[in-house]
Amino acid sequence: MTLPPGPSAPPTVQTARWLYRPIEFMDACRRRHGDAFSVMFLGFDTPMVMISDPESIRALYRSRENGLPPGRTVTLEPVMGARSVLLLEGSEHLSRRKAMLPAFHGERMRQYETVISEVARAEIASWPLDSAFPIHPRMQAVTLEVILRAVFGITDPARLERMRGLLARMLGNLASPRLQLRVLLARRFGRSDPMDDVRQEGRAVDDLIQAEIGERRADPRLAERDDILSMLMAARFEDGAEMSDEELRDQLITLLLAGHETTATGLAWTFDLLLRHPDALSRLRPELEAGEDEYLRAVISEALRLRPVVPLAGRRLRSELRVDGHVLPEGTDVTPAIWLAHTRADVYPDPLEFRPERFLDGAPETYAWIPFGGGVRRCVGAAFAEFEMRVVLREVLTRCDLRLAGSKPERIARRNITFSPRSGTRVVLSGRR
Ligand code: HEM
Repeated sequence: MTLPPGPSAPPTVQTARWLYRPIEFMDACRRRHGDAFSVMFLGFDTPMVMISDPESIRALYRSRENGLPPGRTVTLEPVMGARSVLLLEGSEHLSRRKAMLPAFHGERMRQYETVISEVARAEIASWPLDSAFPIHPRMQAVTLEVILRAVFGITDPARLERMRGLLARMLGNLASPRLQLRVLLARRFGRSDPMDDVRQEGRAVDDLIQAEIGERRADPRLAERDDILSMLMAARFEDGAEMSDEELRDQLITLLLAGHETTATGLAWTFDLLLRHPDALSRLRPELEAGEDEYLRAVISEALRLRPVVPLAGRRLRSELRVDGHVLPEGTDVTPAIWLAHTRADVYPDPLEFRPERFLDGAPETYAWIPFGGGVRRCVGAAFAEFEMRVVLREVLTRCDLRLAGSKPERIARRNITFSPRSGTRVVLSGRR
């Protein structure tokens, strides 16, 4: 059993290329080594195998017993907490997932339409006319507010205000491109853990969450509330137990961290691509005005294909796996390289073209379109995210005339765990409708 070959540069060089030029790095590996290759990152003892062929991805995701590679926990565990659904494994993970999934069921999403529309409209009303601004931070403001209202269910204006400020600071620090590198270097050279500062900041957030949970527990109308925190409070594990306050805190922070930046980035990229493709935009607008959403769904699928927000969603093998003629032994860390899987010419002709029409004839193929990962760990919030994106795109595009502030293409840059538009996609609001 041998791992597929990969770049021979030292781990520091591979890590730097991955952090600062991820697309070029993966693309070069694919051209040199094919669909499967092994990379070696700083701070890890063993190589990570990247795959991109849909059959290999299917095999990886369909095997339920595979665990998580340790990489997921580097910057997430100290903030999300030990009971986070995103970090637990095996039966502990499955029981959390089962308890959470009903709250995120596709049909439930409709009840958040009003909140999302209100948040988007208030945001649009604050945009300046005829002067350039980056749309990515504006989308972060929208998705943060949606999480505070629809997921946390906070209604008290003073608490909302305080939470908004605290979370914006915490999220800003976590998104620093250097944080992950600092953590890796600290581990490698035994320096003090940069996550300690982040943890400290999180305490004020925890206190506010605790206050919210306490009030909610005392609320006789808890069962009537439809925010996700209230649904998690009402959920029961198979043995009839409920989530403790500490666990509710961990899941809320997990939902915030997993759902806020990702959805904002997905929205920013969708605006970026639409504004660069006037044909697609002029096909979309009349459809939105007519209250339809077929092309809108295709636009979102295509944007998430071409600009996948999360680059990797890997597993640590619990049994051997065959990929591309290699037999990978138990214990190997394997991850789909999502951008590579999404830019295969055999699945997507002219893969680098933005062409929403390719998704009009049917849903994307399960293991060739994996912006939300797959299998038993597929994103819990996928239906929520796509619904939120549809509502926000509709509000903005039917109310605003937007254009790009410049013609320079937007580069893909890493922001902690996401691939985001480096300059935030600068736009100009040239008129309101
Ligand atoms: C465009 C937006 C989003 C993208 C691209 C995205 C992507 C992902 C990916 C790639 C994973 C890992 C899946 C895997 O390992 O197979 C994931 C997991 C997860 N996401 Fe999302 N996500 C988005 C929005 C959201 C939202 C809005 C929420 C909740 C409010 C959310 C909650 C979660 C949770 C809880 C997990 C952990 C699932 C598990 O480990 O079982 N995500 N997401």
